Amino acid sequence: MCIFAKNLATVFMAKIENPFRFGSVVTDSSFIDRQDKIKFVLDVMESGNHLVLIAPRRYGKTSLALKATEGIKRPVININLQNVTDEADFARQLIKGTLHHYPLKKIKYAFTHFAVVPTISSDPTSGSIEVSLAPTVRGDIALGDAFGLVEEAGKSGPKPIIIFDEFQDAEDIAPNMLKKLRGIMQLQSHVNYMLLGSQESMMREIFEKKKSPFYHFGTLLHLPGIPEDEFMGYLQSGFALCYKGETSEISKQILEFTKCHPYYTQELSFYVWNELKEYAQAPADLVEKVIQSAVSRKDYDYERLWARLSNNNKKMLKALASGLTSSIYTKEFLLATGINAASTVRGCVKRLLKDGFIINDETRKEYRVEDPFFQQWLKNLF
Ligand SMILES: Nc1ncnc2c1ncn2[C@@H]1O[C@H](COP(=O)(O)OP(=O)(O)O)[C@@H](O)[C@H]1O
Ligand SMILES: [Mg+2]
Repeated sequence: MCIFAKNLATVFMAKIENPFRFGSVVTDSSFIDRQDKIKFVLDVMESGNHLVLIAPRRYGKTSLALKATEGIKRPVININLQNVTDEADFARQLIKGTLHHYPLKKIKYAFTHFAVVPTISSDPTSGSIEVSLAPTVRGDIALGDAFGLVEEAGKSGPKPIIIFDEFQDAEDIAPNMLKKLRGIMQLQSHVNYMLLGSQESMMREIFEKKKSPFYHFGTLLHLPGIPEDEFMGYLQSGFALCYKGETSEISKQILEFTKCHPYYTQELSFYVWNELKEYAQAPADLVEKVIQSAVSRKDYDYERLWARLSNNNKKMLKALASGLTSSIYTKEFLLATGINAASTVRGCVKRLLKDGFIINDETRKEYRVEDPFFQQWLKNLF
């Protein structure tokens, strides 16, 4: 490409912002599709039921939950269970979330039921509320009180929606947490819950196993990737901001690589946009080059991940990366991978799913390496 064309394009595009977003929750114009899912979420929230939202990491669960509840005139309390350190901290966060939406004077009476009343302070300039519990307080009792508070608040005011994100981590908060939570939550009738979880197998254990305390607790929603045609339109209009040429081939190559995974599609598109804006006429191998340079930037992290894997897990990932994504329990698969038994394959799949290395893509009916850049890194290895 001639240097002059490249520089001229750069001058014109200097002020335009890259429209692709990855890493944080999206609820603005970077949020696409999911209209039917938003409606489903709202229908469940308007009923007396609870919602259980399951999808692999970075598929857009949190974004969907926040987008769906964004315009709703009800208090939304959002707690990520990954950030909860113990039962007392859980109680503290729940009380704080409740006080954020319901004026203290309206729900003051509910604190009279507390075994130990928390200390509440507010910053009049920022309006933020801080809650602390005496270090001697028993966490389980404080937690019961906190759930009682939010139920009372829902009784006297608008019914709250409580989002527990990364719900599969509940058991890490305290022993028997699921059983305790179920015991409390099933007695409430003035709260709607949205329970979000990433680890498909654990979420299924929690909500679909008969002996689990949360068996049939709420309506299940499995969130798929974003349909290719939705992404095509979005990518092309994003690229049109910085590039006048044809971008359908570029968009197709991106989606082929990411398999429409929401996060990785936004990530790769972000990198491609930054390159594309430099050109008046993009080279045919632009996407490929962008992928390879992203993979080399991530090399250090991938090397560390790889070093910690067992040999069988390495064999499994290598096979999946090379395209052997379906029929993984067949003799041919064992022969191709060098793994000695189907039961070992099963063990590897369970472990790799749990650790987020692979996903079970129900739309495409295949197990796949979760991160397409890591998949490319694996391909480069062999
Ligand atoms: N509806 C959507 N449209 C476009 N991109 C999305 C959408 N939902 C999620 N993403 C992309 O995926 C990333 C992860 O979304 P997030 O809601 O944090 O996923 P999760 O909660 O499942 O881990 C976002 O930063 C964004 O890049
Ligand atoms: Mg999330």
